[in-house]
Amino acid sequence: MKPENLRTKIFLDSGDPAETKETMAFLGFLDGQTTNPSLIAKNPETAGKKFTREELLGFYRGVVEEVSRVIPEGSVSIEVYADKHTSAEEMLRQGREMFAWIPNAHIKYPTTREGLKAAQQSVKEGMRVNMTLVFSQQQAAAVYAATRGAKRGNVFLSPFIGRLDDRGENGMDLIENILKMYQKGDGHVEVLTASVRNLHHLLAAVQLGSDILTSPLKVLREWAQAGLPAREDFYKPEALTPILYEELNLEQDWTAFDISHELTDVGVERFSADWNALLS
Ligand code: G3P
Repeated sequence: MKPENLRTKIFLDSGDPAETKETMAFLGFLDGQTTNPSLIAKNPETAGKKFTREELLGFYRGVVEEVSRVIPEGSVSIEVYADKHTSAEEMLRQGREMFAWIPNAHIKYPTTREGLKAAQQSVKEGMRVNMTLVFSQQQAAAVYAATRGAKRGNVFLSPFIGRLDDRGENGMDLIENILKMYQKGDGHVEVLTASVRNLHHLLAAVQLGSDILTSPLKVLREWAQAGLPAREDFYKPEALTPILYEELNLEQDWTAFDISHELTDVGVERFSADWNALLS
Protein backbone atom coordinates (compact mmCIF):
# COMPACT_ATOMS: atom_id res chain seq x y z
CA MET A 1 0.00 0.00 0.00
CA LYS A 2 1.13 3.56 -0.65
CA PRO A 3 2.55 5.14 2.53
CA GLU A 4 0.18 7.83 3.82
CA ASN A 5 2.88 10.48 4.15
CA LEU A 6 4.04 10.06 0.53
CA ARG A 7 2.91 13.01 -1.62
CA THR A 8 4.97 12.16 -4.70
CA LYS A 9 3.12 10.08 -7.29
CA ILE A 10 5.02 6.95 -8.21
CA PHE A 11 5.16 5.85 -11.85
CA LEU A 12 6.82 2.85 -13.47
CA ASP A 13 9.16 3.60 -16.39
CA SER A 14 8.65 0.66 -18.72
CA GLY A 15 7.38 -0.46 -22.12
CA ASP A 16 6.30 -3.87 -20.87
CA PRO A 17 2.85 -4.54 -19.31
CA ALA A 18 4.28 -7.66 -17.62
CA GLU A 19 6.38 -5.26 -15.51
CA THR A 20 3.28 -3.22 -14.64
CA LYS A 21 1.65 -6.38 -13.29
CA GLU A 22 4.81 -7.45 -11.48
CA THR A 23 5.18 -4.02 -9.85
CA MET A 24 1.55 -4.00 -8.76
CA ALA A 25 2.13 -7.40 -7.18
CA PHE A 26 5.12 -6.37 -5.03
CA LEU A 27 4.33 -2.68 -4.48
CA GLY A 28 0.54 -2.85 -4.22
CA PHE A 29 0.01 0.47 -6.04
CA LEU A 30 1.16 2.53 -9.02
CA ASP A 31 0.05 6.05 -9.88
CA GLY A 32 1.03 5.76 -13.52
CA GLN A 33 3.49 4.56 -16.13
CA THR A 34 5.77 6.25 -18.65
CA THR A 35 6.80 4.69 -21.94
CA ASN A 36 9.05 5.84 -24.78
CA PRO A 37 10.36 4.37 -28.06
CA SER A 38 13.51 2.96 -26.43
CA LEU A 39 11.44 1.21 -23.76
CA ILE A 40 9.15 -0.28 -26.45
CA ALA A 41 12.29 -1.54 -28.18
CA LYS A 42 13.28 -3.25 -24.90
CA ASN A 43 9.92 -5.06 -24.63
CA PRO A 44 10.83 -8.79 -24.87
CA GLU A 45 8.13 -9.29 -27.54
CA THR A 46 10.00 -7.05 -29.98
CA ALA A 47 13.27 -9.00 -29.62
CA GLY A 48 14.63 -10.05 -33.00
CA LYS A 49 11.49 -8.86 -34.82
CA LYS A 50 10.91 -6.30 -37.55
CA PHE A 51 7.65 -4.46 -38.08
CA THR A 52 6.00 -2.27 -40.67
CA ARG A 53 5.18 1.23 -39.41
CA GLU A 54 1.51 0.28 -38.92
CA GLU A 55 2.39 -2.95 -37.11
CA LEU A 56 4.79 -1.19 -34.76
CA LEU A 57 2.24 1.49 -33.93
CA GLY A 58 -0.32 -1.29 -33.39
CA PHE A 59 2.10 -3.05 -31.05
CA TYR A 60 2.68 0.19 -29.08
CA ARG A 61 -1.08 0.69 -28.86
CA GLY A 62 -1.53 -2.86 -27.54
CA VAL A 63 1.10 -2.22 -24.87
CA VAL A 64 -0.49 0.97 -23.55
CA GLU A 65 -3.99 -0.51 -23.72
CA GLU A 66 -2.86 -3.39 -21.53
CA VAL A 67 -1.06 -1.05 -19.11
CA SER A 68 -4.17 1.13 -18.97
CA ARG A 69 -6.31 -1.89 -18.05
CA VAL A 70 -3.95 -2.75 -15.18
CA ILE A 71 -3.84 0.83 -13.81
CA PRO A 72 -7.08 2.44 -15.03
CA GLU A 73 -6.90 5.16 -12.37
CA GLY A 74 -3.30 6.02 -13.24
CA SER A 75 -1.76 8.06 -16.04
CA VAL A 76 -0.04 6.39 -19.00
CA SER A 77 2.45 8.42 -21.04
CA ILE A 78 2.73 7.66 -24.76
CA GLU A 79 5.50 9.26 -26.82
CA VAL A 80 5.14 10.51 -30.39
CA TYR A 81 7.79 9.62 -32.96
CA ALA A 82 10.04 12.60 -33.54
CA ASP A 83 13.39 13.06 -35.21
CA LYS A 84 15.08 16.34 -35.97
CA HIS A 85 12.96 16.83 -39.10
CA THR A 86 9.54 16.15 -37.54
CA SER A 87 7.25 19.19 -37.66
CA ALA A 88 4.89 20.36 -34.92
CA GLU A 89 1.93 19.52 -37.18
CA GLU A 90 3.14 15.94 -37.60
CA MET A 91 3.69 15.53 -33.84
CA LEU A 92 0.25 16.94 -33.18
CA ARG A 93 -1.33 14.55 -35.68
CA GLN A 94 0.27 11.60 -33.88
CA GLY A 95 -0.57 13.06 -30.47
CA ARG A 96 -4.27 13.36 -31.29
CA GLU A 97 -4.34 9.78 -32.55
CA MET A 98 -2.48 8.35 -29.54
CA PHE A 99 -4.55 10.36 -27.07
CA ALA A 100 -7.62 8.48 -28.30
CA TRP A 101 -6.02 5.06 -27.67
CA ILE A 102 -6.79 5.02 -23.94
CA PRO A 103 -8.78 7.19 -21.52
CA ASN A 104 -5.81 7.97 -19.26
CA ALA A 105 -3.12 9.06 -21.75
CA HIS A 106 -0.55 11.83 -21.44
CA ILE A 107 1.18 12.55 -24.75
CA LYS A 108 4.94 12.94 -24.66
CA TYR A 109 6.51 15.56 -26.90
CA PRO A 110 10.21 16.43 -26.94
CA THR A 111 11.05 19.82 -25.39
CA THR A 112 12.13 21.34 -28.68
CA ARG A 113 10.68 24.26 -30.64
CA GLU A 114 8.42 21.94 -32.67
CA GLY A 115 7.49 19.88 -29.61
CA LEU A 116 6.50 23.00 -27.69
CA LYS A 117 4.33 24.23 -30.55
CA ALA A 118 2.59 20.84 -30.63
CA ALA A 119 2.11 20.94 -26.84
CA GLN A 120 0.72 24.46 -26.91
CA GLN A 121 -1.96 23.42 -29.39
CA SER A 122 -2.58 20.11 -27.59
CA VAL A 123 -3.44 21.73 -24.27
CA LYS A 124 -5.74 24.19 -26.06
CA GLU A 125 -7.60 21.12 -27.34
CA GLY A 126 -7.83 19.74 -23.80
CA MET A 127 -5.21 17.02 -24.27
CA ARG A 128 -2.85 15.99 -21.47
CA VAL A 129 0.87 16.26 -22.24
CA ASN A 130 4.19 15.18 -20.77
CA MET A 131 7.12 17.28 -22.00
CA THR A 132 10.15 15.03 -22.17
CA LEU A 133 13.94 15.29 -22.55
CA VAL A 134 14.15 18.33 -20.25
CA PHE A 135 17.69 19.21 -19.18
CA SER A 136 17.54 22.89 -18.21
CA GLN A 137 15.58 25.38 -16.17
CA GLN A 138 15.06 27.50 -19.30
CA GLN A 139 13.30 24.58 -20.97
CA ALA A 140 11.11 24.17 -17.87
CA ALA A 141 10.22 27.87 -18.00
CA ALA A 142 9.34 27.53 -21.70
CA VAL A 143 7.05 24.56 -20.99
CA TYR A 144 5.33 26.55 -18.25
CA ALA A 145 4.80 29.51 -20.58
CA ALA A 146 3.71 27.46 -23.61
CA THR A 147 1.05 25.58 -21.64
CA ARG A 148 -0.31 28.48 -19.58
CA GLY A 149 -4.02 28.09 -19.00
CA ALA A 150 -3.93 24.28 -18.85
CA LYS A 151 -5.62 22.54 -15.93
CA ARG A 152 -3.33 21.17 -13.21
CA GLY A 153 -2.82 17.48 -13.97
CA ASN A 154 -2.78 18.07 -17.72
CA VAL A 155 0.90 19.02 -18.02
CA PHE A 156 3.87 17.00 -16.81
CA LEU A 157 7.49 18.08 -17.19
CA SER A 158 10.13 15.34 -17.32
CA PRO A 159 13.69 16.37 -16.42
CA PHE A 160 16.11 13.47 -17.07
CA ILE A 161 18.36 13.51 -14.04
CA GLY A 162 20.40 10.34 -14.68
CA ARG A 163 21.65 11.63 -18.04
CA LEU A 164 22.89 14.84 -16.39
CA ASP A 165 24.64 12.78 -13.71
CA ASP A 166 26.24 10.73 -16.49
CA ARG A 167 28.09 13.78 -17.70
CA GLY A 168 29.11 14.95 -14.25
CA GLU A 169 26.31 17.43 -13.44
CA ASN A 170 24.08 16.99 -10.43
CA GLY A 171 20.72 16.25 -12.08
CA MET A 172 18.91 16.46 -8.76
CA ASP A 173 19.83 20.17 -8.54
CA LEU A 174 17.76 20.72 -11.67
CA ILE A 175 14.71 19.21 -9.96
CA GLU A 176 15.27 21.46 -6.95
CA ASN A 177 15.71 24.55 -9.14
CA ILE A 178 12.60 23.88 -11.23
CA LEU A 179 10.46 23.22 -8.15
CA LYS A 180 11.70 26.49 -6.66
CA MET A 181 10.98 28.41 -9.87
CA TYR A 182 7.51 26.85 -10.24
CA GLN A 183 6.62 27.96 -6.70
CA LYS A 184 6.29 31.44 -8.18
CA GLY A 185 3.85 30.17 -10.79
CA ASP A 186 0.24 29.02 -10.78
CA GLY A 187 1.03 25.32 -10.26
CA HIS A 188 -0.31 24.11 -13.62
CA VAL A 189 2.84 22.08 -14.45
CA GLU A 190 3.76 19.00 -12.41
CA VAL A 191 7.42 18.03 -12.15
CA LEU A 192 8.02 14.37 -13.05
CA THR A 193 11.54 13.27 -12.09
CA ALA A 194 12.73 10.91 -14.84
CA SER A 195 15.85 8.95 -15.79
CA VAL A 196 15.99 7.68 -12.21
CA ARG A 197 18.87 5.25 -11.92
CA ASN A 198 19.04 4.29 -8.25
CA LEU A 199 17.30 4.40 -4.89
CA HIS A 200 19.15 7.61 -3.94
CA HIS A 201 17.54 9.38 -6.90
CA LEU A 202 14.10 8.06 -5.98
CA LEU A 203 14.34 9.09 -2.34
CA ALA A 204 15.88 12.48 -3.07
CA ALA A 205 13.03 13.22 -5.52
CA VAL A 206 10.50 12.32 -2.82
CA GLN A 207 12.33 14.42 -0.24
CA LEU A 208 12.48 17.45 -2.54
CA GLY A 209 8.74 17.19 -3.15
CA SER A 210 8.80 16.26 -6.85
CA ASP A 211 5.12 15.93 -7.82
CA ILE A 212 5.79 12.66 -9.64
CA LEU A 213 8.72 10.35 -10.26
CA THR A 214 9.11 7.54 -12.76
CA SER A 215 11.41 4.67 -11.97
CA PRO A 216 12.55 1.40 -13.51
CA LEU A 217 11.13 -1.73 -11.88
CA LYS A 218 14.52 -2.64 -10.39
CA VAL A 219 14.67 0.56 -8.29
CA LEU A 220 11.03 0.25 -7.22
CA ARG A 221 11.80 -3.26 -6.02
CA GLU A 222 14.79 -2.03 -3.99
CA TRP A 223 12.55 0.64 -2.50
CA ALA A 224 9.91 -1.93 -1.55
CA GLN A 225 12.57 -4.19 -0.06
CA ALA A 226 13.81 -1.26 2.05
CA GLY A 227 10.28 -0.82 3.46
CA LEU A 228 9.20 2.18 1.31
CA PRO A 229 11.18 4.89 3.14
CA ALA A 230 10.28 8.48 2.19
CA ARG A 231 13.45 10.33 3.15
CA GLU A 232 16.99 10.61 1.81
CA ASP A 233 19.16 12.56 4.22
CA PHE A 234 22.49 11.46 2.86
CA TYR A 235 22.30 12.32 -0.85
CA LYS A 236 25.30 14.59 -1.33
CA PRO A 237 26.87 13.60 -4.65
CA GLU A 238 30.08 15.58 -4.16
CA ALA A 239 31.65 14.21 -7.32
CA LEU A 240 28.97 15.97 -9.39
CA THR A 241 29.09 19.64 -10.40
CA PRO A 242 26.22 21.67 -8.91
CA ILE A 243 23.66 23.19 -11.31
CA LEU A 244 23.01 26.77 -10.26
CA TYR A 245 19.58 28.36 -9.94
CA GLU A 246 18.63 30.94 -12.58
CA GLU A 247 16.27 33.83 -11.90
CA LEU A 248 13.71 33.58 -14.76
CA ASN A 249 10.47 35.40 -15.40
CA LEU A 250 7.70 32.86 -16.03
CA GLU A 251 5.40 35.54 -17.38
CA GLN A 252 7.39 35.87 -20.61
CA ASP A 253 6.37 34.25 -23.89
CA TRP A 254 7.88 30.77 -24.25
CA THR A 255 9.92 31.85 -27.25
CA ALA A 256 11.91 34.20 -24.97
CA PHE A 257 13.66 31.25 -23.32
CA ASP A 258 16.75 29.43 -24.57
CA ILE A 259 15.35 25.95 -25.08
CA SER A 260 18.33 24.41 -26.87
CA HIS A 261 20.24 21.66 -25.08
CA GLU A 262 22.57 19.15 -26.66
CA LEU A 263 21.26 16.30 -24.48
CA THR A 264 17.75 16.97 -25.84
CA ASP A 265 19.12 16.63 -29.39
CA VAL A 266 21.00 13.44 -28.45
CA GLY A 267 17.84 12.12 -26.76
CA VAL A 268 15.65 12.76 -29.81
CA GLU A 269 18.25 11.04 -31.95
CA ARG A 270 18.41 8.01 -29.66
CA PHE A 271 14.62 7.58 -29.39
CA SER A 272 14.14 7.81 -33.14
CA ALA A 273 17.05 5.43 -33.85
CA ASP A 274 15.67 2.82 -31.42
CA TRP A 275 12.24 3.07 -33.05
CA ASN A 276 13.58 2.94 -36.60
CA ALA A 277 15.70 -0.10 -35.78
CA LEU A 278 12.45 -2.03 -35.26
CA LEU A 279 11.18 -1.21 -38.75
CA SER A 280 11.53 -3.64 -41.63
O1 G3P B 1 12.12 8.22 -17.88
C1 G3P B 1 13.07 8.44 -18.86
C2 G3P B 1 13.91 7.26 -19.04
O2 G3P B 1 13.24 6.24 -19.68
C3 G3P B 1 15.22 7.54 -19.62
O3 G3P B 1 16.06 6.88 -18.79
O4 G3P B 1 18.02 5.70 -18.08
O5 G3P B 1 17.62 6.11 -20.54
O6 G3P B 1 18.25 7.97 -19.04
P1 G3P B 1 17.60 6.65 -19.15
